Amino acid sequence: MDITIYVQDDSGDRHPLTLPTDMSLSLMEGLKAGEFPVLGTCGGMALCASCHIEVLEGQVPNEPQDAEWSMLDTVPVLTDRSRLACQIPLTDELDGLVVRIIGS
Ligand code: FES
Repeated sequence: MDITIYVQDDSGDRHPLTLPTDMSLSLMEGLKAGEFPVLGTCGGMALCASCHIEVLEGQVPNEPQDAEWSMLDTVPVLTDRSRLACQIPLTDELDGLVVRIIGS
């Protein structure tokens, strides 16, 4: 199925992005495909933090694993709801999620 997530910019405007959940993509890959400013320099290996986002509304079903925590430990601005978008698989449960891109 297709889901819609929303990317909130610095002015508070929310930009919808419709993404497929049947292509084994990560949220990082989806954001890149939607031409949002996510570098994804390490290709999704939890090694660069350029896909750092904050989840503003909604729940991400999977918890960060050790590699993600280690990388999040290095970012300059860590929020309570920080995640690496490359470690979030696109699934139906993400429908309606609101995120803000922080980057590295
Ligand atoms: S793309 Fe490098 S940590 Fe996510």
